[in-house]
Amino acid sequence: PAVSGVPHLLTDNDLSPKQLTDIIQSACQFKHQAKVLGKPSEAPLAGKTMALMFSKRSTRTRVATETAVAYLGGHAMFLGSQDIQLGVNESLLDTSKVVSSMVDGIMARVGAHSEIETLAKYSTVPIINALSDLYHPTQILADLMTLHELYTPKGSEPHTVSPATTLKNLKLAWVGDGNNILHSLMIQLPKVGMHITMATPKGYEPNADILKHAQQIAQKAGTQLGVYHDPKEALDGADIIVTDTWISMGQEEEKKQRIKAFEGYQLTRELIEKSGAKPDWKFLHCLPRKQEEVTDDVFYSPRSHVFQEAENRKWTILACINQLLVKKGF
Ligand code: CP
Ligand code: NVA
Repeated sequence: PAVSGVPHLLTDNDLSPKQLTDIIQSACQFKHQAKVLGKPSEAPLAGKTMALMFSKRSTRTRVATETAVAYLGGHAMFLGSQDIQLGVNESLLDTSKVVSSMVDGIMARVGAHSEIETLAKYSTVPIINALSDLYHPTQILADLMTLHELYTPKGSEPHTVSPATTLKNLKLAWVGDGNNILHSLMIQLPKVGMHITMATPKGYEPNADILKHAQQIAQKAGTQLGVYHDPKEALDGADIIVTDTWISMGQEEEKKQRIKAFEGYQLTRELIEKSGAKPDWKFLHCLPRKQEEVTDDVFYSPRSHVFQEAENRKWTILACINQLLVKKGF
């Protein structure tokens, strides 16, 4: 939503199907320009600063954002929770007003999703959600870009074809926790014509309101959304298999109880091959990864595209920043 008339990317709902496919294509174009043509950017962010307000650790999102801003000729300023008064000793309202008065954009990684809503309410510059407990919108952009690259027909370049055609009717299966990554996938996949099935242990289902909303989006788009507890049921007929850590940042104290609850949900070669997944199944994971949720014979196999997915965080975040800070909206 455009709070106070300023465009933001707070949740996956902020992008229409066309805006979503445009961002993915723009990211492919940037990647092609930088890596294939070796062209420098025109530095549209010269003299501008993007603040990275992160209250949780990050490798990919931080490196992707800092290098993307540098590529566009701007300055990225990392502000960790140990460095600034991020909701500690000062309200988010005051922090948001102060920081946004001096920078041109904010990438914010927060705990509760309500924190990013507060930041956006009082910020005079665009805010991009760099992860909250409910959503991770920039991650799903990289996932879809990676799949678009993988499913672009031979002889074509990803930046010349639409993700709406390459991704249509593919089925993605999620096995694991009903977390922020799953929420974001549920909202975005129907917009490119993809089906989604999920298997989560009882008590670890996705947020009920987000699931209901995702079901409405899928129904409108004519795509399938299947909710299961048995991994084999979710994996049946899957083109793409995805999981994430069972213990998200902030849930460390629940580790013991979660490991127990997720017994039987580890993605192994054997489970996948016995499950009825498509013979040419592919694997994605947002990283960081633990052995618990996926074994090495899947994670480091040729079926796994996790490092291409990680690199694509940069190109998709670059496309988002370009859209919000240079083009002034989606
Ligand atoms: N996938 C992802 O967001 O990784 P980081 O937490 O390292 O940024
Ligand atoms: N679900 C994980 C994603 C990390 C990128 C977390 O929130 O910690």
